[in-house]
Amino acid sequence: MRNLVFGATGNIGSRVAHGLIDAGSRPAIFARDPSRARDLFGDRVDMHTGDLETPDSSLAAALDGVDGIFLLTDGPNLGVQDRAVSDAALTAGVQHIVKLSTLDVLTGVGTGPWHAAGEAAVRASGVPFTFIRAAGFMSNALSWSYSIRNEGILRSSTGEGKIAFIHPNDIAAVAITTLLTREPRDQALVITGPEALSYRDMAAIIARRIGRSIGFEEISDEQAYARAVGWAGEGPYVDALIDIWRAVREGRVATVTDGVQQVIGREPISFAQWAAENAASFQ
Ligand SMILES: NC(=O)c1ccc[n+]([C@@H]2O[C@H](COP(=O)([O-])OP(=O)(O)OC[C@H]3O[C@@H](n4cnc5c(N)ncnc54)[C@H](OP(=O)(O)O)[C@@H]3O)[C@@H](O)[C@H]2O)c1
Repeated sequence: MRNLVFGATGNIGSRVAHGLIDAGSRPAIFARDPSRARDLFGDRVDMHTGDLETPDSSLAAALDGVDGIFLLTDGPNLGVQDRAVSDAALTAGVQHIVKLSTLDVLTGVGTGPWHAAGEAAVRASGVPFTFIRAAGFMSNALSWSYSIRNEGILRSSTGEGKIAFIHPNDIAAVAITTLLTREPRDQALVITGPEALSYRDMAAIIARRIGRSIGFEEISDEQAYARAVGWAGEGPYVDALIDIWRAVREGRVATVTDGVQQVIGREPISFAQWAAENAASFQ
């Protein structure tokens, strides 16, 4: 059973590749930056270098002899990348594509339309698939660290709306189980954290952990946009963020599911646990 991991130098993909290694297998990875990949995995993976924006022959070479794929792509063009990978996977005889998608496919919010296009491309290829439609990641909260550390404030346009952020380790665990069992086939798994919390709730949880009070300041969409452009630049990514934060405020993405429990047989990790693991970032 041979798995190829895309996005292995990033947040989720690195956890998936490490998990496959820990389970006793030797995954292949497809990475733009081989030196970063070597730093992460040493010689415990089969390395393929390439860029999904310009896949050329590197993609076919990486897929040679592969049974399963963890497909992590990003950005407004990800549907095109997913099509390139899934069409090449069909040619290569791949048996299973596990695609990291988003819960927002169901609402059309934020990056939902990007992933809907990606899911459609994978479906159209005819390769058996599992879509992991994840809620927002707990690790998104790391973007609050600067203002919490320096001003003791979390500013957000999400108001009192709630979202059930999920721990990156839970996403990786679901992906690893799915890759190792090749189940469930041709289904979409909706996975979330254990409870929907407001940003004010999450600030209070971090505050308790670091032993310092954290204020919550509600800001407008326009203020949130100006701040996000400051660190991410103008473009579709920031537009998607503003859309997601608005949807949180309006209570449209507060879904909680038992998807993690169903796949890996335990409760998803709490935000309090994530805050404990990442307290140093906020101190
Ligand atoms: N954040 C959320 O709340 C959330 C919620 C649901 C779903 N998602 C989805 O999760 C995914 C992001 O996951 P993540 O946090 O693990 O991302 P990440 O940490 O930013 O990692 C992205 C990975 O993709 C690789 N990559 C980017 N462009 C590439 C290209 N053209 N060719 C080959 N590799 C490329 C990067 O490689 P380099 O190291 O070379 O840059 C990196 O390994 C996206 O699909 C996003 O829509 C996010």
